Amino acid sequence: MSAASSSSTLPSLVLRMWRQLEVEAGQRVLEVGTGTGYSTALGAHRLGGDRLTSIEYDSAVGRAAASALAAAGYAPRLVIGDGMRGDPEGGAYDRLIATCSVRYVPMAWLHQVKPGGKILVTLSGWSYASGLAHLTVTGPGTATGRFLPGYTSFMIARPHDRPPRPTPALLPGGERPSRINPAVIGTWTGGWVAQLAAPAAERMGAGPEQILWDISTGSQARTAPGPDGGWTVVQRGPVRLWDRVETAIRLWQAAGEPHQEGFGITVSAVRQRVWIVGEEGPGWDLPA
Ligand SMILES: C[S@@+](CC[C@H](N)C(=O)[O-])C[C@H]1O[C@@H](n2cnc3c(N)ncnc32)[C@H](O)[C@@H]1O
Repeated sequence: MSAASSSSTLPSLVLRMWRQLEVEAGQRVLEVGTGTGYSTALGAHRLGGDRLTSIEYDSAVGRAAASALAAAGYAPRLVIGDGMRGDPEGGAYDRLIATCSVRYVPMAWLHQVKPGGKILVTLSGWSYASGLAHLTVTGPGTATGRFLPGYTSFMIARPHDRPPRPTPALLPGGERPSRINPAVIGTWTGGWVAQLAAPAAERMGAGPEQILWDISTGSQARTAPGPDGGWTVVQRGPVRLWDRVETAIRLWQAAGEPHQEGFGITVSAVRQRVWIVGEEGPGWDLPA
């Protein structure tokens, strides 16, 4: 069975995102992920088609959206291409809204959105955790922002998707007690923290029986309930995945276990960092 490559976003979510984008009349907006064209139609209705460009990766999906938008009487500029590269014709935008998620903020966006402009995008990863980021571009190639409350997730952008991997085989490794209850990484924000700590890992399993598989190195970690009411972890490979996850979860717990709105992000040409508490607080580099 092949995975879906495009899906229609919940209409209420799209509407909320257009509000969160804080778009004003007369502004130019770049949308990434046209999909059915529903969110594009809302944007074109609000701004006028001449102010909106929407990029779709999949040409068949893009053609269907073009017909639907024309039938509905909207004429935004539609582009078939990789939105991670921004608008191929360049141009300065006031706002960028993405309805596919990314592992890190594409650098092209930070040069196409004007300083002072905003980017609304869901950060996700190969462990399927997500956070909706609202960034302000602070200069060419730099931005800072906060994550918004709620539970927003989108399918991951095509070039950011996990590469093909062999069927995971659980192999022996070093065993020790776990210092955290592994079930915490099955929660919305606990899973987000684990993904930040092990950004090349895929998460499988449930409850106290979690499996992390590092796509880059093949390293693995798997947890299980222990005999004494605690938990154990078996780790194998060059990346000690559970060591990283444990440290991150304990930092997050020490900060009071904030939900996503307790996190922020700072982006530059050399580093993309998600942090809690403040810019100087604990944080994790995105795999940019
Ligand atoms: C969740 S759907 C968007 C739904 C859309 N907002 C709607 O209202 O129907 C995500 C879309 O992003 C597209 N996509 C994925 N990667 C992309 C990329 N790199 N550039 C542009 N579009 C991309 C997918 O093909 C898919 O159509």
